[in-house]
Amino acid sequence: MRDIAQSLGKADQREAGEPASVAIGPLRLRGRAILAPMSGVTDIGMRRIANRFGASLVVSEMVASDDYVRGHEETRLRAEGAGVDPHVVQIAGCDPYWMGEAARLAEASGASLVDINMGCPAKRVTGGYAGSALMRDLDHALGLIRATVSAVSIPVTLKMRLGWDEGSKNAPELAQRAEAEGVQLVTVHGRTRMQFYKGKADWAAIRNVRSAISIPLVANGDCTSAEDARAMLAASGADCVMIGRAALGRPWLVGEIARSLEGMPADTPSAAARAEAALEHLDTLCRSMGEHAGLRHARKHLAAYADHAGAQIPRAPRTGFVW
Ligand SMILES: Cc1cc2nc3c(=O)[nH]c(=O)nc-3n(C[C@H](O)[C@H](O)[C@H](O)COP(=O)(O)O)c2cc1C
Repeated sequence: MRDIAQSLGKADQREAGEPASVAIGPLRLRGRAILAPMSGVTDIGMRRIANRFGASLVVSEMVASDDYVRGHEETRLRAEGAGVDPHVVQIAGCDPYWMGEAARLAEASGASLVDINMGCPAKRVTGGYAGSALMRDLDHALGLIRATVSAVSIPVTLKMRLGWDEGSKNAPELAQRAEAEGVQLVTVHGRTRMQFYKGKADWAAIRNVRSAISIPLVANGDCTSAEDARAMLAASGADCVMIGRAALGRPWLVGEIARSLEGMPADTPSAAARAEAALEHLDTLCRSMGEHAGLRHARKHLAAYADHAGAQIPRAPRTGFVW
């Protein structure tokens, strides 16, 4: 295994074992493991728990910029941040006006960071010329970034894939141009849009973005353990890792990985603490969405918590992820 310090990016040259000091503008992260934004998954309940158990950063579900500004209730709930610190709202869209307004609203609502989504592969999003479709038109993408950055005084970050397809892996160019426009951190999922979730994320390909930028870089895709995180940092040269699907049913995993990367004890919480967290998650959702919607929304989380506890609960087969 390569020395982690060797693999760190320009933004954070330090010896392995020293406390993490990745900075995003005025914000100093307390570690190097981030909970990924996941629509329908990283609701306020999950983000609070991940935050409490030591995730270095948690990101809201993507919100459509126009819906958010128009006050769409479901969208407002997705962007909720009470009890989460620092609070990050991820916005998506294809119109500079709505992106700027959404960023302004996020800042006014207490967000510490705004993240822009240019990685979503879903047809309903790319069809509206948002998400990863923006990687096919960098000039347009840059216009959205400019509108977002100039609307707020908090840092703006950007999440993307390697590119649209095998023949157009332009993440380094997008990242470099985004940095020139004032973006302060870039996350790269090591797959192209056309790969959706197929195959294995290419952590080494993320290194091409490392050499293109000096702002912090986050590597994402298929990180399920502290061992993965170390290998991912070494292969990509990134400053941080981002964990998505592996945290479903165990939001504390992100904090465990963060502590392990700093050479600290990274024990899994006790069964009692995990059960308490699952109930807290349910309670948060019921308070935030109302009992009926909260319970309905909590089902997939409760099933996943039970899976990780080794419980055998009969239930209908799970449908695949939309993303
Ligand atoms: C159900 C689901 C919803 C997702 N929603 C979002 C989203 O709202 N915004 C975003 O940037 N990425 C979203 N993603 C992508 C994840 O953030 C992440 O890039 C991807 O899952 C790869 O990381 P992983 O292998 O650790 O899961 C979603 C992924 C899944 C599985």
